[in-house]
Amino acid sequence: MKFGTFIFSTAMAAIMSGCGQQTKSEGETTMKAGISKESWGNVDNDSVYLYTLTNAKGTVVKITNYGGIVTSFVTEDKAGNKSNIVLGFDSLAGYLEKPPYFGALIGRYGNRIGDATFTLDGKEYKLAANNGKNALHGGLKGFDKVVWTPTVMNDTIPTLMLSYMSKDGEEGYPGNLKVMVHYTLTNDDELKIEYSATTDKATPVNLTNHSYFNLTGDVNNTILGHTLMIAADHYTPVDTTLIPTGEIKAVKGTPFDFTAAKPIGKDIDSVPGGYDHNFVLNNKDGSLQKVAVLADSVSGRTLEVYTTEPGLQFYTGNFLDGKFTVNGTPVKYRTALCLETQHFPDSPNKPEFPSTILQPGTTYQSTTIYKVVK
Ligand code: BGC
Repeated sequence: MKFGTFIFSTAMAAIMSGCGQQTKSEGETTMKAGISKESWGNVDNDSVYLYTLTNAKGTVVKITNYGGIVTSFVTEDKAGNKSNIVLGFDSLAGYLEKPPYFGALIGRYGNRIGDATFTLDGKEYKLAANNGKNALHGGLKGFDKVVWTPTVMNDTIPTLMLSYMSKDGEEGYPGNLKVMVHYTLTNDDELKIEYSATTDKATPVNLTNHSYFNLTGDVNNTILGHTLMIAADHYTPVDTTLIPTGEIKAVKGTPFDFTAAKPIGKDIDSVPGGYDHNFVLNNKDGSLQKVAVLADSVSGRTLEVYTTEPGLQFYTGNFLDGKFTVNGTPVKYRTALCLETQHFPDSPNKPEFPSTILQPGTTYQSTTIYKVVK
């Protein structure tokens, strides 16, 4: 069952479909900001659409209500050439092949829960072990594989709201969880993602977006030459199955020190398997703060990440192996990276970590912004 009202009619789509180029005066062009919509197929007898959000600069973000997936984020490089800086397919079929969460909304619990088990209020909950013995990214059919109910909220500062009702017991989690995600594309080239959720039983919740970035706009290139700054003095070391040991370790003097920008490839070979770790952000008070800056000097693009979350999963595409192809190019090892804002992995089993338990009567809220500057 889904909730929310589907108010966006075909007639409105026709009215708002004029996201084209407009000439303001001689020699000066702007884009008309807006949202357009096209049919993209069906999943589970529900209609799937692709929404195109365009801002006044002509930056375009495409989002489907299947998995809440960001399928494309097209921005200009320093020479004014446009290209897509995230991994995505141009049809639904690619996503039904279950790529590793390309662009998707992740839930009910982003990243891993150890031994696919947690205990809450004295009761043990068993989840599907879909990553070795652990649970990963919400289970066999997480929020990345469900059809969300879409509502266009605003067409001048394009905002798409997606809602989903995750039933009590779905993927083993307790409580009916009502989830809302607002995606907004601002005229400052910010993709703003606002998450909220309520429940009728206590449950773990940890929502994120799993976009894979390559700022060169070409997945033939690796991301090892991008530079990265992460405002984190600590990270959470992991065991061989990528479950945090519980330790909060200082990054200083380790390959995990990104407090000053450095090329991702600089120390990656000293990290077994590559980076796939949760960084403990210095941002402790839940306010929206700039926590990471990714840059590619060749294209001149920079991506700034802002969040209210205490953690950031930095994943360097270590499991990409060429199995999936985008625009005719196999997506190979380390040709894209994720900066997933989150609470820490395995928090339901780590009382020392910030709590991820949502109680009835309270509201989960989280905001993340991916801002492209050049
Ligand atoms: C995880 C990786 C995983 C990737 C794709 C990341 O969030 O930390 O270990 O391979 O998602 O599933």
